[in-house]
Amino acid sequence: MLNTFRAEAVTLLAVYLILILLLTACSPPTGNAENGQRWFAMHNCTSCHGKNGTGGRAPKIAALNRSFGSFVRFLRNPDSTSMPRFPEEKISKQDAADIYIWLKTLPE
Ligand code: HEC
Repeated sequence: MLNTFRAEAVTLLAVYLILILLLTACSPPTGNAENGQRWFAMHNCTSCHGKNGTGGRAPKIAALNRSFGSFVRFLRNPDSTSMPRFPEEKISKQDAADIYIWLKTLPE
């Protein structure tokens, strides 16, 4: 009786742990806007999108109206011939989150 109870408690605990792991893996990492501005210049996004994302050769992306997931998907595989791809090796998920947060802080 006691053993079954203990087994159930362990199973429940394992389920909670897995849920927590899943939730943290799926939620976007917290970004740092200051770093984001740095990565934006470092990866030369500025050459097409302008120093502050206000546009130039490429559309304005300041105050971007996309979810984080959609932003990362676009970076990894832009459905465009004029924008280069930025795979994980070039821009990590964390760096992408930094850029995203920075773009979001910019005025419309
Ligand atoms: C060589 C030029 C070029 C560079 C460099 C470039 N982009 Fe782009 N980007 C484009 C063009 C052109 C488009 C528009 C593509 C389209 O709509 O088909 C675009 C579109 C985008 C969009 C989608 C805009 C929307 O309306 O939703 C995002 C987000 C974006 N770029 C982010 C970035 C980031 C971040 C970087 C740097 C890591 C970057 N781009 C570097 C040319 C560039």
